[in-house]
Amino acid sequence: AIERTLSILKPDATRRNLTGKINARFEEAGLRIIAQRRILMSEAIAGQFYAVHRERPFFKDLVSFMTSGPVVVQVLEGENAVAKNREIMGATNPANAAPGTIRKDFAESIEANSVHGSDSLENAAIEVAFFFATSEIVA
Ligand code: CMP
Repeated sequence: AIERTLSILKPDATRRNLTGKINARFEEAGLRIIAQRRILMSEAIAGQFYAVHRERPFFKDLVSFMTSGPVVVQVLEGENAVAKNREIMGATNPANAAPGTIRKDFAESIEANSVHGSDSLENAAIEVAFFFATSEIVA
């Protein structure tokens, strides 16, 4: 089925000017960027977005990293978009990511891992709505 998923190009990706190269991976895989915005997350926004990780030992570092520079938030649409995007991204830890994935090719570390993608269709809907109004998504 055609799905939508939330994608974030993280501060390590914008810092190294990799947004076009990463977007090309999405488009080559048949995903369409139907909404996109470059922002600097506040601590409040990052903390809210990652609230599910609040009790994890890496939470503080995660928020500090995600607010350390610009990010690009985007909505990707396509057949099986949630799983397809996770496949293209590769494993969270670039050391475990398969060859040819975004994280294998671009990520610096488990924290500076270049991209975020929703992990389920249910979370995708929540995460898309967190950043985008319906009127900003143009399919
Ligand atoms: P992301 O998909 O954005 O969701 C939570 C993020 O926490 C994850 O990607 C990683 O970049 C980051 N993170 C940092 N340290 C860890 C860790 N030890 N285990 C899992 N995620 C981590």
